Parts: sequence; C-alpha cells; structure tokens
Amino acid sequence: MSTAKLELNNKTYEVPLIEGTEGEKAMDVTRLRAETGYITLDPSYANTGSCLSSITYIDGDAGILRYRGIDIAELCEKSTFMEVSYLLIYGHLPSQEEYQRFKDKITYHSLIHEDMKSFFTSYPGHAHPMAILSAMVCSLSVYHPQLLKPDQTDEERDETITRLLSKVRVLAAFAYKRSVGRAFVYTKPELDYLSNFMHMMFTTPIQPYVADEVIRKALDVLFILHADHEQNCSTSTVRMVGSSKANLFAAISAGICALWGPLHGGANQAVIEMLEAINKDGGSYKKFIDKAKDKSDPFKLMGFGHRVYKNYDPRAQIIKKYCDKVLDHLGINDPILEIAKGLEEAALTDPYFIERKLYPNVDFYSGIIYRAMRIPTNMFTVMFALGRLPGWIAHWKEMIEDPGMKIARPRQIYTGEGHHNYVDIGIRP
Ligand code: ACO
Repeated sequence: MSTAKLELNNKTYEVPLIEGTEGEKAMDVTRLRAETGYITLDPSYANTGSCLSSITYIDGDAGILRYRGIDIAELCEKSTFMEVSYLLIYGHLPSQEEYQRFKDKITYHSLIHEDMKSFFTSYPGHAHPMAILSAMVCSLSVYHPQLLKPDQTDEERDETITRLLSKVRVLAAFAYKRSVGRAFVYTKPELDYLSNFMHMMFTTPIQPYVADEVIRKALDVLFILHADHEQNCSTSTVRMVGSSKANLFAAISAGICALWGPLHGGANQAVIEMLEAINKDGGSYKKFIDKAKDKSDPFKLMGFGHRVYKNYDPRAQIIKKYCDKVLDHLGINDPILEIAKGLEEAALTDPYFIERKLYPNVDFYSGIIYRAMRIPTNMFTVMFALGRLPGWIAHWKEMIEDPGMKIARPRQIYTGEGHHNYVDIGIRP
C-alpha cells in the first residue's frame, strides 16, 4: 500500500493513500487522531471524502457525470427513469424479467392508507408542498411498522424500497392537489410510473389528463438527470440519518428537508422567481449581474455555480435542449426563457464568472420546463425530490449493506470559553 509521510512534532507518520477507479486520490486519515492526536478540519466538507461509493462518478473539471459507469447523456437518450432507478439501486441494468418484476411491485404498492388523506386536508391551503412531502414520507413509516427493523433481510429491504418509490409520487401529487384545493386522484395500474404521476397531478373530475409523448419524455429525462449526484447535501443527509439506523422513511424525509434549501434543490424555484423579477424590472440583466458580483449584496445568481462542477454542468446542457423542444412543441413563447439565455450569455462572458468558473447548474433551466408543463413554482423542488429519490435510496442501501458501517459522527475544534465557574444570580427557589 502506498503512503504519504506526515511530519508532526519531529515525528514521521505514514498516512495510507487510496485511489478510486477513475484515479481520484485520497489520504486515509481514519487512524490520524489515534496515532497523532490531530484531526483534520474541513468546514462544509469541501475537501473531505465521507465514504467509498460505487454509484456515481463526477469529474467536475471535465463536466462528466456517470451512473454506475454509464454516461448521463447516453442514459437520457436510451433509457428510462424506471430503468435508471433500478440501475442506481441494484448496481446493474435490469434484465427484462427483473425490470418487469420491479415495475409490477411499484404498481402493486401505489396506494397510500386512506387515513393519510386527512393529514393533507389539515394543512393550510398555502402550505409549501416540500413541508407536506417531508412530513408525509416520515408519516408513512407509521403505516408500515414491519418495515422499520434496523436489520432487514434483503427481501424486506426491497419491499421497503419499492413501497417508498411508488408511494412518494402519490404523496407528491396529493400535496399538489391540496395546494390547489382539488380532489385527490388515484393511480391507474395500466399507466407507467411517470404517466401515472401526471395523471394524479392533472386529471380532474371533469377532464382526464392524457400524457403527451414529448412532455412525458422531457419529464423522464429531467428525472434521470436528477436521479443521483453522489455526496451532495441531501444525499449526505440521508446517509447521516441512516447511519444511526433510523429507518429509510425517516432518512428520506430528512433528505427532502435538506433538498428544500435555495442553495440546493430549492434553487429551481429561486431561479424562476429571479427570472420573473428581472422580467418585471424591464429585462435588464446587467443590474442583476452587478448585484451578484457585489460582495456587500447577499444576492446570488440563482442556478449558477456548483461545489463540484468547474465547467458547464452536463445536466444543464441536456436540460437546455429539452427546454427548447418542450416550448416549441407546446407553442409557448415564454419571455423567461429568452431572459435566461441572455443572462447566461452575459454571465459567461463576464470576468467575475469566468475567473470563478461559475456556469449554469441543473436548476437553471429545469424550472422553465416545469412551468411550461403547468407545474406551479412551489412544486419544482418536489419534482426534484421525486427524481432524486432512487439516488438517495441507492446511497442508503450501499451504506446499510456495508459490513464496516459506523454511525456518522464528525469532530470539531472547540473555540468557546475556557473552564470557569458557575455564577449564581439567585433564581433558584
Ligand atoms: N452568484 C454569484 N457569485 C457566486 C455564485 C453565484 N451564484 N456562486 C458562487 N459565487 C462566488 C462566491 O461568492 C465566491 O466568490 P469569492 O471567491 O469572491 O468569495 C466564489 O464564487 C466561489 O463560490 P463558493 O460560495 O465558495 O462556492 P460553494 O461551492 O461554496 O457554493 C453553491 C456552491 C452553493 C452552489 C453556490 O455557487 C451558489 O450559492 N449558487 C446559487 C444557488 C444554486 O444555484 N444552487 C443550486 C446548486 S445545484 C444543486 O444543488 C442541485
């Protein structure tokens, strides 16, 4: 095993080196504290690997994203969200038989307990659907106590996974129906995963929704693009919560909350709000670009920048193409799309963005497609959550099946007051 030499207080320590399949390099510091008394300090984990993982590979400098070794563009072109979900969770593309079994199980589990409907109606009409979704996913656990055992068999784990995959889209559609004050619509077993979701969202008692092929394909691609992104904030949250052996429902519910933030998945809602504000302001990008560059102004160009990508986000490139396709197909002339393209062009030629390698990320164009599909802005992050679900599940499964798994527990460097005595201010009876 190759090692690096670390010199501390006139003593030399050997730190083991690790190399990933694609040549990613790391120093293994797991024994560092025990051997030297030192920990490594890396706030916000910008330079810390939290696990070994064989699910997703990203090369942020080259703009590469692969699931289980397969390039994202190829998956978008040739695969489906259901197949990609299987690939992420089980580690290989399914055979026809495995695929059919997986789909059948998802269809079989596509109802939620009738009592849960009353939860939805207890929320105020203006409740954010991410709050409802996160609470409902955790509440699902109440109805499946048999699936909460920390040490499940493979079959029990599969049962939990397929139930969750199937039911979360029902919860998402019901959260939407609640927010618009319409009757809940049940799944139809003859429809595929996505058509069913669209049916539950848009069918009304007076008008059935029939999925349009261009829209369905665009949604399929969006979900594939969102399906995993290795150790991002929400996935790390799912792993962190799951590492305590809390059940999958609880871990995913926590992941949904982490995704909600505007610096993460919530950016898709924030982008549309920003583009609308620019439009309302007369459409001038310059003012907003100047605001984003001004360090005394908290404003950021939403949908721009990424912790890992220092190149064009490959997902944004694909989404941009679908954006044109969907709007053309629907005959929509959305001024927001023109503003987005103009803003992108202006930012990409501005030295501030060039020097910092800030490019559009996955959230920059996705909201424009959702908007064209008549999905309300506050549902955008819910759509992201549905897409990310198989990735969260895959990471939870990878972690829980690792025989060396331990509870996640970072350390800290304490910077508070030194030891001093209690001062009695005389409030005790
Ligand atoms: N607008 C203006 N300046 C930016 C932006 C932006 N969107 N993003 C980063 N910067 C600047 C920072 O101010 C910093 O400048 P400095 O070096 O002069 O201090 C520099 O670029 C580096 O940025 P960091 O904040 O260090 O980057 P970090 O990796 O911590 O943050 C993040 C990444 C959170 C995505 C950030 O770029 C951001 O807030 N973007 C807008 C929100 C967004 O689109 N989030 C979605 C990300 S994709 C996803 O999670 C699905």
